[in-house]
Amino acid sequence: MRAKIVAGNWKMNNDKDESKELIKDLKKAIKKEGLKNTRVIVAPTFVNLSSSIKAARKSKIEVVAQNMHQSKNGAFTGEISADMLKSIGIKTVILGHSERRTYFNETDVSLAAKVDAIIANDLETIFCFGELLEDRKSENHFAVVESQIANALFHLEADAWKSIVLAYEPVWAIGTGETASAEQAQEMHAFIRSTIEKKYSKKVSDKISILYGGSVKPANAKEIFSKPDVDGGLIGGAALNVADFTGIIKAI
Ligand code: PGA
Repeated sequence: MRAKIVAGNWKMNNDKDESKELIKDLKKAIKKEGLKNTRVIVAPTFVNLSSSIKAARKSKIEVVAQNMHQSKNGAFTGEISADMLKSIGIKTVILGHSERRTYFNETDVSLAAKVDAIIANDLETIFCFGELLEDRKSENHFAVVESQIANALFHLEADAWKSIVLAYEPVWAIGTGETASAEQAQEMHAFIRSTIEKKYSKKVSDKISILYGGSVKPANAKEIFSKPDVDGGLIGGAALNVADFTGIIKAI
């Protein structure tokens, strides 16, 4: 059975105390929930990873990073390596978020190198991709998504896919309040799964958790999560509020 995952991407929000507070509140809030087979993940900013890991101790909350550089070390001012993340206990890294692609020029090619570093370092990635509004309007969304996945991930051996979680995030739905309908999400997730099955096998595609991201809120989470190929969500804005994030976790 595929793991259900609710992951909060905090982006550039929350200082050290706010991060600890939010994790403490979340810990309390999810204690009562029977969360068997559900992973609860938060992604604070780099400087708050260590203190957040400490705050999350003795809970099922996993603390993950929002990005990583592909090189082992070297002259890359402002960047963070896999070794650095592993040395503080990080096991999972979000890669390819549309904000990284848009504002920091990340491409399928640079992301393929980052994914290789994930695999070489025995880490896991939550790999994000999704089409722009103009792609959907011109009905190119399936082709765009297929090429994003193929360019960044289809050089991997089948075995490496155990380290990959996918997050389909249509860019037009991120932080806009406009969400894909549950049907649109299911249609794309089923397409993604079949694309992976064609390239690899049903065994690989059946095991891949595919998260939906883009304006998920407690009010729409249940319907989106009820779809058979939607295995959870990557949550931005609503992950900053403990009641909203808990509401979304409950929906799964
Ligand atoms: P949002 O962000 O939930 O605020 O739309 C989602 C994301 O960026 O992962």
